[in-house]
Amino acid sequence: MELSETFHALGDPTRLRLLRLVAAARLNVTEIVSVIGVAQSSVSHHLAKLKALELVREERVGGFTYYSLAVDATDARWPLIRLARESDDAHGDQARLTELLRRREDRHTLNEKLLEPGQSWLLWASALSSLLPKLDVADFGCGSGVLTLELSRWARHVTAIDRSPQALEQARARLAREKCKNVSFVEADLHELPPGLPKHDLVVISQSLHHVSDPAAVLAQAAQLLKPGGRLVVMELSPHGEAWVKARLGHQHLGFEPAVLEAALTASGFTDVTLTPTPRDGSSPFRAFLLTATRPSRPSKRTAREARA
Ligand SMILES: C[S@@+](CC[C@H](N)C(=O)[O-])C[C@H]1O[C@@H](n2cnc3c(N)ncnc32)[C@H](O)[C@@H]1O
Repeated sequence: MELSETFHALGDPTRLRLLRLVAAARLNVTEIVSVIGVAQSSVSHHLAKLKALELVREERVGGFTYYSLAVDATDARWPLIRLARESDDAHGDQARLTELLRRREDRHTLNEKLLEPGQSWLLWASALSSLLPKLDVADFGCGSGVLTLELSRWARHVTAIDRSPQALEQARARLAREKCKNVSFVEADLHELPPGLPKHDLVVISQSLHHVSDPAAVLAQAAQLLKPGGRLVVMELSPHGEAWVKARLGHQHLGFEPAVLEAALTASGFTDVTLTPTPRDGSSPFRAFLLTATRPSRPSKRTAREARA
């Protein structure tokens, strides 16, 4: 393969990052997208180019297509590859790759440790959710519907809300593929939901609050949408210093102090607030936590006073 073509191909910064990643580990497209934060279509395009130059090899494993480095030290282009591998990691890809590989390892270990072959935590989660009563659930910021699908498997009905028509389109397609008929989609801003939505038993806000400009206003909307006695589940990130997520992923907040959201929940009239942090993992800049809360059957005296004021 022409050396000049390889030089030319690696002149593109995204391709250079891709090559560095697949040189470090065998990865599928979803994993690569999650590390470099570039659209899947663009990643696939660059991978095709690297494959055409025989720099990258493609293999099917367990229903996924994996990519790895196809050249070794016997190849005339090896010095160039070595330079690429040693070049500056300005985007912090290596830290995210390490985290991804650790999670992959964790998944294997958990499945091996806890369960027999063929079973998984996912099955255990569905076993638990099958014990839940049939609830009407609202999914705030449903994105492409990954969580909506899981909710729809046990809920009576799911209202999937997002302001992005593209995200809703993907969610609709995902749910249609799985033949789920108990989901309705609402294109709306979470700060100001349209009037006339039915009341729900449960509102789930997973990884969406860090995208909105006014999280307290969104939590107040959740309170409005719940039946008396309804529950709220919030999954969020603790404060972190990864400022790149603002430009690349559209985050508006670099995580939250749980106490700030707890105070906003109380101000919106929620009670029985519980906080579950996840254990700190030294290699990841992100740490998630879970908040649950209840909209009381009767408003607290304070909220009632405030409503009258
Ligand atoms: C990271 S995704 C969360 C996806 C999903 N909840 C999950 O956990 O897999 C955040 C979603 O919130 C949506 N979003 C952000 N701000 C919003 C707003 N003000 N109103 C409605 N949706 C919003 C985005 O369009 C995006 O789809």
